[in-house]
Amino acid sequence: MRIALGSDHGGYEMKEAIKTHLESKGFDIKDFGTKTTDSCDYPEFAVAVGEEVAKGTYDRGILVCGTGVGISIAANKIPGVRCALVGDCFTAAATRQHNDSNVLALGGRVIGVGLALQIVDTWLGTEYEGGRHQRRIDLITDIEKKYNK
Ligand code: RB5
Repeated sequence: MRIALGSDHGGYEMKEAIKTHLESKGFDIKDFGTKTTDSCDYPEFAVAVGEEVAKGTYDRGILVCGTGVGISIAANKIPGVRCALVGDCFTAAATRQHNDSNVLALGGRVIGVGLALQIVDTWLGTEYEGGRHQRRIDLITDIEKKYNK
């Protein structure tokens, strides 16, 4: 599985911990930045990662900002991206099973690295269930088509 990572300065340390964790497990990772703790703008990294996932160049994306809110809002503007802001393992599993989320957002100033890594492992290890959930995802795709003419 190819995974694109990105963060702003508020998520930098958590993004680095996730990168080290996933590389040690043998995942194919590309880090789209940020590369330092200098202040920067989270939409840039949301777009860099989201575009790669929407194109299919990367299978999944993981984004981190201070709260996870700004970077998830920005990523969800890209058609084809279903970005879930997650702070617990139940939601990490459910958003894969029900929403087929392809980008995970985390709050680097909200949860600890230990929980973040458990969320990442749960999210990457849980399959989409399809079935009745596909109808709902198709309805989300209809919204994208309606507002992205
Ligand atoms: C940066 O200060 C902060 O606003 C950002 O990381 C994020 O929390 C925005 O939603």
